[in-house]
Amino acid sequence: VKRVRTRFFGTAKQQGTRITALTSYDALTAQIFDEAGIDFLLVGDSAGNVVFGHGTTVPVTLDELLPLSRAVAGAVRRAMVVADLPFGSYEVSPEQAVGSAVRLMKEGAAHAVKLEGGVRSAASIRRIVDAGVPVMGHVGYTPQSEHALGGHVVQGRGAAAEQLLADALAVQEAGAFAVVLEMVPAGIAREVSESLAIPTIGIGAGAGTDGQILVWQDFAGLTTGRVPRFVKAYADLRGTLTEAATAYADDVRTGAFPAEEHSFGDPARD
Ligand code: KIV
Ligand code: NA
Repeated sequence: VKRVRTRFFGTAKQQGTRITALTSYDALTAQIFDEAGIDFLLVGDSAGNVVFGHGTTVPVTLDELLPLSRAVAGAVRRAMVVADLPFGSYEVSPEQAVGSAVRLMKEGAAHAVKLEGGVRSAASIRRIVDAGVPVMGHVGYTPQSEHALGGHVVQGRGAAAEQLLADALAVQEAGAFAVVLEMVPAGIAREVSESLAIPTIGIGAGAGTDGQILVWQDFAGLTTGRVPRFVKAYADLRGTLTEAATAYADDVRTGAFPAEEHSFGDPARD
């Protein structure tokens, strides 16, 4: 199989082929999604929510993401593996950003990195790209800034649409090969996508982007509590696992499991 590389993204945009993506944080889901033909897997700092249980992405560290990225990268044959630069690992300076990106590539075995911010992150994107590391941008709602943005709210409405376009263009000008548009109105997401030469990957950005990404625990129906409007659950893993765990506990308590076929004999004694 031919690996997905940055060239794939440009070709997909030119040909109008939509790009598919899911997050992944472990070898087993990475293998499944890769075999299903998902084009790129994001080792997202959403691990803060769905793996570590922090409730936000803010506390996630580079040291926490590195082993997850290595696990995902080691399991794929075709999909590109993009790893997030977590909050605090790139904002200080372009030098800090390059240092963190290099760690994700070296120790995390990632194929590309993603960082949040448009105009404000352009200099760092440029430096990372110059170091030979492909960069994916991320504009619109940027979860690492949730406290500054006043919570989980749609970005780019009304007059803010111009800033969104300026941010997306800054990411492109800085040399990124693609950009995530998160939680912005569908109309402006379509306009931004038509204005850019690089593909846009939408999450809560409507149908007019060049690709889509979802957090895998959301798309698989594993997440509990309030799920964002933009999520579609393609399975009910929470229901399936709850039933399975309940049945297992019942079987252990009643003695129905393990049965003989799950047990070892000793031909010398039986
Ligand atoms: O961390 C993440 O999962 C992300 C996607 C939602 C784009 O950044
Ligand atoms: Na992220």
